[in-house]
Amino acid sequence: NPLPLSDLATLRATVAAWRAEGEQVALVPTMGALHEGHLRLVAEARRRARRVVVSIFVNPTQFGPTEDFSRYPRDVTADLAALAGAGADAAWTPDVATMYPPGFATRIEVSGLTEGLCGPLRPGHFSGVATVVTKLLNQVQPHIALFGEKDFQQLRVIQRTVADLDLPVVIEGVPTIREADGLALSSRNRYLSADERRVAPALHEALSGIAKAARTGAPVAPLVADGAARLAAAGFTVQYLAVCDAETLAAVETVTAPARVLVAAYLGRTRLIDNVAV
Ligand code: PAJ
Repeated sequence: NPLPLSDLATLRATVAAWRAEGEQVALVPTMGALHEGHLRLVAEARRRARRVVVSIFVNPTQFGPTEDFSRYPRDVTADLAALAGAGADAAWTPDVATMYPPGFATRIEVSGLTEGLCGPLRPGHFSGVATVVTKLLNQVQPHIALFGEKDFQQLRVIQRTVADLDLPVVIEGVPTIREADGLALSSRNRYLSADERRVAPALHEALSGIAKAARTGAPVAPLVADGAARLAAAGFTVQYLAVCDAETLAAVETVTAPARVLVAAYLGRTRLIDNVAV
């Protein structure tokens, strides 16, 4: 079973002892409500490191005032049971006061990468993510940290933060785990009604169709317009649908280098995001 840790000094002593033995340490940051996507990150971490720490912290600073922070699913008992099966060595479960004690005043802002896609739709979100992930990396001090491609812009923002601040850790991206019908696993899928759940795979279908056509070098604009129309017809409210350079996340007109099709859309009250490689 994973060692549950919520005291920073104990966490540091535990990891320091592993490192003193010459063991590689991997960190998988999460907000809990763990599903097979998270557990795949843990499995990948196990392949790369002798010791695996999974952090579970629903980070208030990355949720906007009208977002789902208070109703975000929390079930630490179930999470610890899932982690036991996945072979995690420790679960780092700090409380809000440990992460943000009185007087806390520092935030990390990543420009450029955060100016499109989810950035303008969720003001402060990526700053909250970059700040909490930097703290988690400094607390745990892993050799490697793993993040899902499911949150592709987040992955790029974290890679940028780590490079820019010379954080001594290797960031590894892990491909998205999907249901058999293509829906990307997400803690928020449990908000979907039965009807919405039936419609939800159309998101991945639209992305795949655009990726397949864009791969041939066809102009992106009509592909995106057609995809957005299909999604609207299926009942989605599309926030963005875009083909972007896989490194800079700048929108592209035709695909000449590694690119990504990315989408954010509401289905009822539930906001879904997904992306695929071109
Ligand atoms: P959370 O949404 O819990 O996701 C934790 C990690 O699991 C992220 O790296 C995410 O990309 C990955 N993940 C989620 N669904 C996945 C799927 N279907 N396939 C593969 N990986 C998947 O992302 C966060 O938490 C937070 O922003 C965090 C980085 C922990 C900072 O608070």
